[in-house]
Amino acid sequence: MRIGGENTRSIWVQPDGWSVGIFDQRRLPWSIERLTLMDAEDAVNAIADMATRGAPLIGAVAAYGLALALRSDPGDAMLEHAYRRIVGARPTAVNLRWALDRVLDWVAPMSPEIRAIEAYAEAARICDEDVAMNRAIGEAGLPLIQQIAARRKGRPVNILTHCNAGWLATVDWGTATAPIYLAHDAGIAIHVWVDETRPRNQGALTALELAEHGVPHSYIVDNAGGLLMQRGEVDMVIVGTDRVTANGDVVNKIGTYLKALAARAHDIPFLVALPASTYDPATPCGSDVEIEERGSEEVAIVSGEDAGRVRSIRLTASGTRNPAFDITPAALVTAYITNKGVIDSMDALTRTLHPK
Ligand code: MRU
Repeated sequence: MRIGGENTRSIWVQPDGWSVGIFDQRRLPWSIERLTLMDAEDAVNAIADMATRGAPLIGAVAAYGLALALRSDPGDAMLEHAYRRIVGARPTAVNLRWALDRVLDWVAPMSPEIRAIEAYAEAARICDEDVAMNRAIGEAGLPLIQQIAARRKGRPVNILTHCNAGWLATVDWGTATAPIYLAHDAGIAIHVWVDETRPRNQGALTALELAEHGVPHSYIVDNAGGLLMQRGEVDMVIVGTDRVTANGDVVNKIGTYLKALAARAHDIPFLVALPASTYDPATPCGSDVEIEERGSEEVAIVSGEDAGRVRSIRLTASGTRNPAFDITPAALVTAYITNKGVIDSMDALTRTLHPK
């Protein structure tokens, strides 16, 4: 996808052939800055401090983090140490453990001499597969938008999304945004309601992406969705997810659950876009997932751009709580848009994404 007019993925191996490049998402949308990861600790810090974010991208960074660790020391002790460090960087998105397990399972039986090169190869495969899965999610979701567009007779289809489940949160395309990009490219009139997503305002990243792609959109405060749904100004909700548990519960950015409740109250389709890497059949239900609690400063202090300079100001001196994710019960999900097609029942989700 595009940023600053340039086509790029969200993660790449640098021309030196080993260090790993990412965008510093703490600086977006005000400033496009890149970070270079030189070792596993750089990967841990980038994930924990949200320089990089979004479930699939966290997985890709984690995979390269293990490769970077093995480059300096390919022994068993380092493999185990780096795995434990990286897996602990953030608790909620299952893609982190999924990607680390893939690299670990691939390289552990190999001799230390070839582990680093094979870890890089597996990390590259994880990235390429993520791009293909997101593109497939787009193709699966496009007909859902087309069906609504046919009823709208040329009037734009209004899609509400929460957080950033765009290409900046994946390796490319995004999950929730992939059907949106394909619909726009197919000439379907669409308009996206972009939830601000306090406290980290990931909606600003979604808005940046949509603007670069020329997709009409409006940035709204998190509480606006209810009114818009009540007024018939939302045709469908599409969100991404950090983990879908065995029973179909959806763990996603804080605020997702309220949108699902409002969508159900107004009979609006609530759709969850996910690649197979975000499905966690080993965890029975959403309440079994550790919900990340982040620091209180994220809530108490807001940052923004002022005449080209990023400034931060304190909003409150009171104590805060900052749960970063919530759980939308499976019963509120109209359908899951996956890389294997649109799935509207739990049995089918398990059969399709985790065949025995
Ligand atoms: O805290 P973040 O920004 O990592 O949370 C991101 C989300 O909640 C996304 O909606 C989710 O990871 C899906 S990304 C395709």
